[in-house]
Amino acid sequence: MKYGKKFLLVVLALMLVLSISSMATAQDDLSGDLEIFSWWTGGGEAAGLEALIAKFNELYPNVNIINSAVAGGSGVNARAVLTTRMLGGDPPDTFQVHAGAELNSLWVKAGRMESLNDIFEANGWLEQYPQGLLDLISDAEGNIYSVPVNIHRSNVLWYVPSKLEEWGVTVPKDWTEFVDTTCPALQAKDVTPISIGENWTQSHLWESVALGVLGADGYNGLWNGATNWTSPESVQVWDTYGKVLACANEDMNAISWQDASKQVIDGQAAFNVMGDWAAGYFIADLSLEPNTDFAWAAAPGTDGVFMMLSDTFGLPKDVKHPENVRAWLNFLGSAEAQDIFNPLKGSLPANTTAKIDDATLYNAYFQSAYEDWTTNTIVGSQRHGAVAPAAFDSGFLNIIATFQADKDSASASANAAALAIQTGIGG
Ligand code: GAL
Repeated sequence: MKYGKKFLLVVLALMLVLSISSMATAQDDLSGDLEIFSWWTGGGEAAGLEALIAKFNELYPNVNIINSAVAGGSGVNARAVLTTRMLGGDPPDTFQVHAGAELNSLWVKAGRMESLNDIFEANGWLEQYPQGLLDLISDAEGNIYSVPVNIHRSNVLWYVPSKLEEWGVTVPKDWTEFVDTTCPALQAKDVTPISIGENWTQSHLWESVALGVLGADGYNGLWNGATNWTSPESVQVWDTYGKVLACANEDMNAISWQDASKQVIDGQAAFNVMGDWAAGYFIADLSLEPNTDFAWAAAPGTDGVFMMLSDTFGLPKDVKHPENVRAWLNFLGSAEAQDIFNPLKGSLPANTTAKIDDATLYNAYFQSAYEDWTTNTIVGSQRHGAVAPAAFDSGFLNIIATFQADKDSASASANAAALAIQTGIGG
């Protein structure tokens, strides 16, 4: 059957009018509250969230957003509050949760989350999100439980190029070089070789040391059972980590991740290992230029490997405003929202139709991270929920704290092995 050109144009115009008016109706229809729970409260964390909320407010002017962010990097405090609320029958409308075990081993397993397949199908996201990421937010039956807003990288080493030149050091290629050569050279100049912050940032550093010492397969083996937690290689991770700690600032337990990153910018410390929310902090909060005011490399010994994590939001069962959450999630997963959020957050868009090629939106840092994301070996971050459940994480933070005091590698290895068994890690 053949249709005239005019007829097709009329049909197209009608479809456009209809879709615009149905969008308008949906937007007018929604009202009431929408409580958004996260740990993005400031210092580089909040700018992206606030920009998202501002755009959502424009789209849905009658929805009242309650931003219930709980301060504390990496969600260590937020997760405790969330658990009380979820299990006490007072779930927030939507909450931040990492893709992977953090989502699946607790909230999905407990049957507390709504499946979101309809949202993914209606938006064509099954084709727009990387399969590996979809797998991290799905159960074995293919039900999808959250909407990713980004891809972050955990294993990044930050530094200031002009400072390294001034101190006569170069970026160490592995942890042995860092410990044996870079660290003493910097200490001789009264410069802190590596800055670290509070407890969780220490476990963040630990996973980069583990990846550097064990390699991608060995690191993955910790989570899939192929690497024994008490093997000589695993003990060596702790030995190396202990030597790296000895190159760090003494006030580590008292400072936040932002303070630790800023020690590098201020020339107090030479290096810092932190996820690329540090890029968001440098760019959005401190107005720094990539490659001049700050630069980056893969954490020592991890070149060619991208340790990933993803921030996602889900819809818990029995929330007060499910329709508002659905509108929020529909928005959050769109390329438009991801292009608003990620340039401020320091992360890559998870939706592959976002404008990552636009260098006016995504500067040199993002271009370099994207190149690595699309060419490197991908592994998941323990610290940020991709490969181990929250139960492992809280126990592991204690092991990290104990190790800081006693530097006993054998005991840390054995305790981590026991924790892995208790929390169902390693098969
Ligand atoms: C991570 C989270 C990032 C950032 C970071 C520091 O767990 O995925 O988006 O918030 O903590 O707080």
